[in-house]
Amino acid sequence: MTPVSRAAAVSSGRPEPTTPWWRDAVFYQVYPRSFADSDGDGIGDLAGVRSRLGYLELLGVDAIWLNPVMRSPMADHGYDVSDPRDIDPMFGDISDLDDLVADAHARGLRVVMDLVPNHVSTEHAWFREALRSGPGSRARRRFHFRDGRGPDGSEPPNNWPSLFGGPAWTRITEPDGTPGQWYLHVFAPQQADLNWDDAEVVTDLEKTLRFWLDKGVDGFRIDVAHGMAKPSDLPDHDGWEANELLGHSPDDPRFNNPEVHDIHRRIRQVLDDYPEAVAIGEIWVDDHERFAEYLRPDELHLAFDFHLTLAGWDADAVRLSVEKGLAAVAAVQASPTWTLSNHDVDREVTRYGGGAVGSARARAMILVALALPGAVFVYNGAELGLPNVDLPDEVLQDPVWERSGRTERGRDGCRVPLPWEGGEPPFGFTSAPSAWLPQPPEWRALTVEKQLEDTGSTLSLYRRAIELRHERAEFAGDEIGWYGSPPGCLAFRRPGGLTCVLNAGKVPVELPDGAVLLASASLTGRTLPPDAAAWLV
Ligand code: NOJ
Repeated sequence: MTPVSRAAAVSSGRPEPTTPWWRDAVFYQVYPRSFADSDGDGIGDLAGVRSRLGYLELLGVDAIWLNPVMRSPMADHGYDVSDPRDIDPMFGDISDLDDLVADAHARGLRVVMDLVPNHVSTEHAWFREALRSGPGSRARRRFHFRDGRGPDGSEPPNNWPSLFGGPAWTRITEPDGTPGQWYLHVFAPQQADLNWDDAEVVTDLEKTLRFWLDKGVDGFRIDVAHGMAKPSDLPDHDGWEANELLGHSPDDPRFNNPEVHDIHRRIRQVLDDYPEAVAIGEIWVDDHERFAEYLRPDELHLAFDFHLTLAGWDADAVRLSVEKGLAAVAAVQASPTWTLSNHDVDREVTRYGGGAVGSARARAMILVALALPGAVFVYNGAELGLPNVDLPDEVLQDPVWERSGRTERGRDGCRVPLPWEGGEPPFGFTSAPSAWLPQPPEWRALTVEKQLEDTGSTLSLYRRAIELRHERAEFAGDEIGWYGSPPGCLAFRRPGGLTCVLNAGKVPVELPDGAVLLASASLTGRTLPPDAAAWLV
């Protein structure tokens, strides 16, 4: 599909003729704080995103996923929402969102917003009301308030830890000034978990969904989509891994409780009134059968598959991840999704070894991801080959840093603002002297400006790869067939005729038959060097 026909399809509201637009879309994840700043405060905003839509059109992506921009005290950079139906002044206002959606649609780009239904900020009107109201009150039932254990109630109600470190419970002071009940927060203390057994919690989310959908937003990425339902007795658990921050095991009682599926059905009923809207769940569930449950026809449309963010630089591990990703959706005929990085994990260049080697491997892996059937998510800056940044202690902002007692540095290193142009920080990201997290001077070689001019750059590789994926018939078909390949390599073929070869080994390998469509590194004859991938037709 050409950008022109995509624009026409979006602005007319007409559905795609055969498949839904999101099934094999390339989504570009915009971390709004770090993408582009329009007002000179050093923090990215919606008008900044709008001013760079031409870049995204040039890149060729189909849709933008915006991390949370709703009103928030920013204890977890927007994942602590205090008003789900307003835009935070840091990012602009409702009219900025309207303008962004209108301009994006005019360019053929869809806009997906982040939705945070598991918890709200402790600054949300509901939580403030709960603090003012006593134990057992209606206002407290919207959350998980419990009496503490021990003779004076001074111990948390159960032994659950927070994913960000420390206990998952915080004790409040009652309106009469006495030490009071505890509330549950699976993440930071400023993110109080909602009680999804409360009918008003459900109806309020429905209101929020319609509020944004009526504005023309094309769907939602749903945060912690496997976490909203909690077991009603909130039982102790004896299997906590020591210090397992930002992760959890399959039997963790905080996640993947069966009642969560009813919540997804309620969400889907609303989305079905907007036939082109998509719901994409953040589902950290490894078991295929349980993962697929979220993708039944009356639940989510897509769910993130994180296997590729976890696999190292190893052809067998990559192949296993791809097989798992395909198997996880096969039972429900859903579309697979592929993600190399996001705002919660180290950037792929760094994970694959950093430096020139890490960059080469990251270039190879985007060719693997874009060769696969299904939707692909590109985290802003991946297309520039940005690595993680080693930040000094004093600038760290992720709550994980303090909550872990400064043992875990958290996720700031993958959230450093993008370098757009020029020879020194802030590289056109902001008119302020510096960005909210400092950009390294070496990024002068990685600016958008530099890479657009260079046909060998990572940005040029992304542009060409996305263009070919949209245009070429060889990308057809929902399946892949594996080829036999030398140790350290993998090769697969799409029914349409595309072959993708990855060399994660240590020696150059001969390419199979076929004309080379694109390669992540320079080829000598028909030899693929290590740390490279190629597409053949
Ligand atoms: C997952 C989000 O991706 C992450 O950034 C956030 O901290 C947690 N959910 C809590 O909302």
